[in-house]
Amino acid sequence: MPDAPVLISPPLPADWPRFEQPLKLGVMASGSGSNLEAIARAIDRGELHAKIQVVVYNNPNAGVAERSARLGLPAVLLNHRHYPSREVLDQDIVAVLQTHDVSWVIMAGWMRCVTAVLIDAFPNRVLNIHPSLLPSFPGLRAVEQALAAGVTVAGCTVHHVELAVDSGPVVVQAAVPVLPDDTPTSLQTRIQQQEHRIYPAAIALAALGCDARTDGGTNCP
Ligand code: GRF
Repeated sequence: MPDAPVLISPPLPADWPRFEQPLKLGVMASGSGSNLEAIARAIDRGELHAKIQVVVYNNPNAGVAERSARLGLPAVLLNHRHYPSREVLDQDIVAVLQTHDVSWVIMAGWMRCVTAVLIDAFPNRVLNIHPSLLPSFPGLRAVEQALAAGVTVAGCTVHHVELAVDSGPVVVQAAVPVLPDDTPTSLQTRIQQQEHRIYPAAIALAALGCDARTDGGTNCP
């Protein structure tokens, strides 16, 4: 059976917007950093009009450290284990982001809950990617949750970040068909391929003010 087509909504931009100044991104990651790299490559291709000012990571062994170095991006380790509370960690994250003149915060596999300290420092300018079609399957192991529920369509979502985990207005979603013999790994791999396509586009759309709260304004698809 051939793979059913992937649906991306809203569609990827045919003409990527140019902003007055490149968007100044701060990327927060805990894992391998493949979404970071996808964003960096979209910038290099001249699609996403942005610059990655800094990468913040919390796990000294995370692959994102090596990947940032390879991409020539400054990376700052803030190890959550050295902090007494989430709020104090977030204060340091905000300080690093502000020092690097960040205007958009891009959580790309950041595996910590964030607090109002971070969200209030960048109102409406914190995005996250999650490997499910939110609001289904928030939280950990979203792909396993989807398979256990027997869904036939899975996917990924870029959304604005609010205090509740994996909530907030949706910016872009990609719907990925579940195949009969899918394992968590095979499905996650196909979902991640779509994450890499939608995240750069979602950043551009969010910067235009387009998300689930806007109803096809002039700049929105
Ligand atoms: C992604 O699958 C994302 O959906 C989830 O964490 C993963 C990060 O992967 N929140 P990577 O570090 O970007 O490779």
